[in-house]
Amino acid sequence: PERRQIIAGNWKMHKTVAEASYYAVELLERVGAVGSPEIVVCAPFTALAALKDELEESVVHLGAQNMSWAAEGAYTGEISARMLKELACTYVILGHSERRELMHETDEEIARKVKAALEAELTPILCVGENLRQREEGRASDVVRGQVEQDLAGLGEEELRRIVIAYEPIWAIGTGKTASSQDAQEMCADIRWTVAQMSGSAASGMSILYGGSVKPENIAELMRKPDIDGALVGGASLDPAGFATLVENA
Ligand code: G3H
Repeated sequence: PERRQIIAGNWKMHKTVAEASYYAVELLERVGAVGSPEIVVCAPFTALAALKDELEESVVHLGAQNMSWAAEGAYTGEISARMLKELACTYVILGHSERRELMHETDEEIARKVKAALEAELTPILCVGENLRQREEGRASDVVRGQVEQDLAGLGEEELRRIVIAYEPIWAIGTGKTASSQDAQEMCADIRWTVAQMSGSAASGMSILYGGSVKPENIAELMRKPDIDGALVGGASLDPAGFATLVENA
């Protein structure tokens, strides 16, 4: 089946407004009119308004890195889906392992965020992945399957069709240690199988990304795998020239 290929950059907590604007100009000069893969930049909340100005009419799509499950109200420090929509975001990363581990986000909260994003017509990039200990104990597949089932619980076929999943083994994030393309493929196929238990047609059309030390040098091999439809890129997305090369190589 034809699936959308996506290369998404996750800046994490990097770049001021000025740095973001500069990046956008540089990136656009390099990716120009690239039609595929789809390019997404997931920036800090504070940089989104400036990025909207630079990127709204371009081939580069905008995303946030988190949002609240609440629509509005007394939630000090939180950002709603509607606020992101106003800033031209079409994507939002949800359940990144850094938020799960450092901010103690639970699958229950993540599932609520997924629903809130879908209601606001944002595309969730749902992150799942096992840590090193879980992999060494042979529990990686069970852990990831559990995350997918809990985070997508109760969604119908139409909703599942609008989800993107990123498989990010925690031990491969920011470590320079990429999962082998074979391991990445196997887990992405497992994820597709898990989604297929909820809806076969949604699973076959779903874009599933790999994340964890993706670089211009290893993207092509990863993308050649049948169940890997793109990448979620951290460190290697921070330099516009390097990110443009990665997109070209995809
Ligand atoms: O969301 C992106 C991932 O956490 C990967 O980060 O490419 O720096 O390893 P990384």
